Amino acid sequence: MDAQRTFLTGQAGIAQAAKLLAEGQCVAVPTETVYGLAANAFDERAVRDVFAIKNRPFIDPLIVHVAGPAKLLQLTAMSPAQEEAARQLAAAFWPGPLTLVLPKQADVPDLVTANRDSVAVRCPAHPIMHELLEQSGLFLAAPSANPFGYISPTTAQHVADSLGERCPHILDGGPCERGVESTIVDLREPDLPRLLRPGPIGQEALEKALGREIHLPEPKADASLAPGMLERHYSPSTRLQLHATGELSQPGPDEAAVYLKRPAQAGEPRIYWLSESGALEEAAANLFTLLRQLDARPEIAVIHCELPEPGPGVASAIRDRLTRASKR
Ligand code: TXA
Ligand code: MG
Repeated sequence: MDAQRTFLTGQAGIAQAAKLLAEGQCVAVPTETVYGLAANAFDERAVRDVFAIKNRPFIDPLIVHVAGPAKLLQLTAMSPAQEEAARQLAAAFWPGPLTLVLPKQADVPDLVTANRDSVAVRCPAHPIMHELLEQSGLFLAAPSANPFGYISPTTAQHVADSLGERCPHILDGGPCERGVESTIVDLREPDLPRLLRPGPIGQEALEKALGREIHLPEPKADASLAPGMLERHYSPSTRLQLHATGELSQPGPDEAAVYLKRPAQAGEPRIYWLSESGALEEAAANLFTLLRQLDARPEIAVIHCELPEPGPGVASAIRDRLTRASKR
C-alpha cells in the first residue's frame, strides 16, 4: 500500500495522462466497468510494459479502446456481414460495456492480439476515459489493472493497492459504475455470434439488438475462443464458498457471509450484503470492492457468498465471476 501516492485528476489529469501515453508510458485509467492499465496500442514497447506490470502471459490478448464506432474501421478488416452486425451492436450499446471481436487489420501489433488474426475492440462510456481517448487521439490497449488472476480494480485506490510502485500513473475517475468487466461478443462468424464473456449487457439484450441467437461456447471445448477465460480468475486469496439463495448460514468466528440483498441479520458481526434492495446492477457495482475488503482481513479464513439465480442482465456475469473466484 502506498499512502503517499497522488492520483491524476480533473482536466489537468486527463491532459497529463494523454501526454504520458503519447510518450510511451502506461497509465491506469477509469472505465465504467473496471480500471484498465492503458498503453498506446501501436507502441509495442509500451504494450510490453503492460504485460510486465500485470505479470500477464503473452498468450492472453488485450482489448483496444476507441473513442467512437468510426474508429473500428481502422482496427478491423470486416466483411459486409460482419460490419452490419458490428454496426447493430455498436448502435445499441456503444459507448458502453461491450467488446466486439472481429478480424484485425494487418497493422494491429501481434503483441496486442497475442498473434491472433482477430482484435477485441471496445468504446467505453466513462466520460474521463472518453475525453482521454479524444484528447490523445490514441488507440488504447488496456487489460484490467490488476495483477494477473486477482480481483479487478473498481477504484483508483484498488489499482494503487495491488500494483503499487509498478504503476506510477493512475487517472482517478471515481468508483466504476458497473463494477464487472465488459461483455465480449465474437462477431467473426456473424451468423453465429458467440458470447465469450458475460458482462453488464445480458444475452437477451444482445439478441434483441442483433435479431438473432447468441451462442454460448462450451468453456472447455472452445478455450481457444476466449483465451483469458481461465477457470480460476478474479480470485481473492481467501477461500470463497458459494451458496444458493436461502442457503447461507450464520458465519463462524473466522468467516464472513455475503448476501446479495440486505438480510434480516444485518448488523450482526461479519454479515455483509451487496445491495440494499437486492438489485443485481448494484450488487455487481459493489462486488469487487467488498471481496477486496474481506480479502484484506487476516482474521477471515472463509468468505461465504450467495450466488444469484440464473437470470437476465448482469446475473450471468456475477455468477461467472463468483464461480471463477471460488476455484482453487
Ligand atoms: O471491461 C473491460 O473489458 C475491461 C476494461 C478495462 O475495458 N478490460 C478487461 O480486459 O477486462 P482484460 O484483459 O482483463 O480481459 C480481456 C479479455 C481477455 O479474457 C482476453 O482473452 C479477451 O478479452 N480477448 C482479447 N482479445 C481477444 C481476441 N482477439 N479474441 C478473443 N478474446 C480476446
Ligand atoms: Mg482482467
